Amino acid sequence: MKIAVIGTGYVGLVSGVCFAECGHSVICVDNNKQKVNKLKEGIIPIFEPGLDSLVIENARSGRLIFTTEIPEAVKASEVIFIAVGTPPLPTGEADLSYIENVARQVAYAMDSYKVIVEKSTVPVKTGEWVKRTIRFNNRDGVEFDVASNPEFLREGSAIGDFLKPDRIVVGVESERAATLLRACYQPIIDQSVSFDLVKQEVIHQAPQGDVTPFLVTNVSSSELIKHASNSFLALKISYINAVANFCELAGADVKQVARGMGLDSRIGDKFLSAGVGYGGSCFPKDVSAFLEISRELGYDFKLLDDVIRINKVQRELFIRKIKKAMWIVKDKTFAVLGLSFKPNTDDMREAPSIDIINALLEEGAQVKAYDPVAMDVSRMFFQDRITYCADPYSTADGADALILITEWDEFLTMDLQRIYTSLNYPIFIDGRNCFEPMKMADIGFDYHCIGR
Ligand code: UDX
Ligand code: UDX
Repeated sequence: MKIAVIGTGYVGLVSGVCFAECGHSVICVDNNKQKVNKLKEGIIPIFEPGLDSLVIENARSGRLIFTTEIPEAVKASEVIFIAVGTPPLPTGEADLSYIENVARQVAYAMDSYKVIVEKSTVPVKTGEWVKRTIRFNNRDGVEFDVASNPEFLREGSAIGDFLKPDRIVVGVESERAATLLRACYQPIIDQSVSFDLVKQEVIHQAPQGDVTPFLVTNVSSSELIKHASNSFLALKISYINAVANFCELAGADVKQVARGMGLDSRIGDKFLSAGVGYGGSCFPKDVSAFLEISRELGYDFKLLDDVIRINKVQRELFIRKIKKAMWIVKDKTFAVLGLSFKPNTDDMREAPSIDIINALLEEGAQVKAYDPVAMDVSRMFFQDRITYCADPYSTADGADALILITEWDEFLTMDLQRIYTSLNYPIFIDGRNCFEPMKMADIGFDYHCIGR
């Protein structure tokens, strides 16, 4: 298959390289010249485990090329995935101007039948607008289909999520589009290209039959599946965070409660980790966008208001927890471990660390911080208002308390005794429930966590 992917961010780049790994010819397009030049030189602009080598190998094989030119990519491809950003507007609605702009440019360039696929997360009904935009701007009346194919890629495990997904969803209006999209994904459907989750490497093997569910729906349902899935996952997190707050009042342990709930197969044990709340480029914006579009269509989805509210309050409660542990925050030095919104990514979008650190700085505290990969990106948010350190120990050295915000593996295995002796006061405030309270108390820590 000949595929174009427009937008080479976290989603577009992973999708493009994985399609190339499946044996397709892929052209990745981005309007950011600097990014494209770097990619051509084999420099990957984001941190995503396993991505570097896959990009380099596929570019070397000639299956993956990068360009800034939409017309060149459109003319050469049968299927065009749009993966440009859909950031939130101040109103909570998704900003669809990049999608519209790309749809217009695709329309100008189309010279034969194409399937134009929404890969970016968009509100229901966007497909209809994309179709209209392309129809009005392609004066030659070239045949085309608009389809929806939402991504379910978690940053940090995006390659595994792409090559070994729980399901592939496509929303189409014609058999022809469904057949072409199925062909794009065939190696993943039959798992001839797969991902070894233990070894964390791509594997090529004989086709296993139809292993991955390939769900074909109409375009609106497919668009909705994305918003409904992400909002449900966000709801699960807000729910367990609310339960955690209740546990603190009731003297229960949220980890035990979550385990007991999760063993019920109807509930499941995933996304039941209480903490400082969800961040990232998807959940916050998708829940808001889902709420806005439902209001626009005439349904007040109030439940989602509460999901958002609980997530916001969760950060405020954590800041209050820090103040309670310290009594006075002013002039204290805090060691902060973890800046990215979750482990295994350098993404700081909507990261809880931003609100938490800003609150400490506003109170007149000093912050020393360490993150295994997000420190460069973090400088854009904090400039030189915080001090960056080389590892957890130098961060803790001489600090008055330690705050853990992101549960990187490196922190789970650090030498706690050494951290204890490095700190001025043995105060450890854990926003991700990484350690056992009894064990921490045995070491001598004044240990604070969530819902336990
Ligand atoms: C984006 C969307 O925000 C998300 O809703 C969707 O589910 C997937 O795509 P992400 O890949 O994380 O997510 O965004 P980002 O890393 O910002 O990448 C977008 C890329 O598109 C950037 O490289 C940007 O330069 C490029 N872009 C943007 C274009 O090529 N053309 C444009 O007109 C706008
Ligand atoms: C999400 C979706 O999971 C993925 O399918 C795709 O649609 C993109 O958006 P991502 O944002 O990369 O992926 O990360 P995810 O693992 O879903 O975590 C999102 C946030 O929720 C993180 O801040 C994480 O720390 C938080 N989280 C997750 C919790 O607080 N508790 C949990 O139990 C799980």
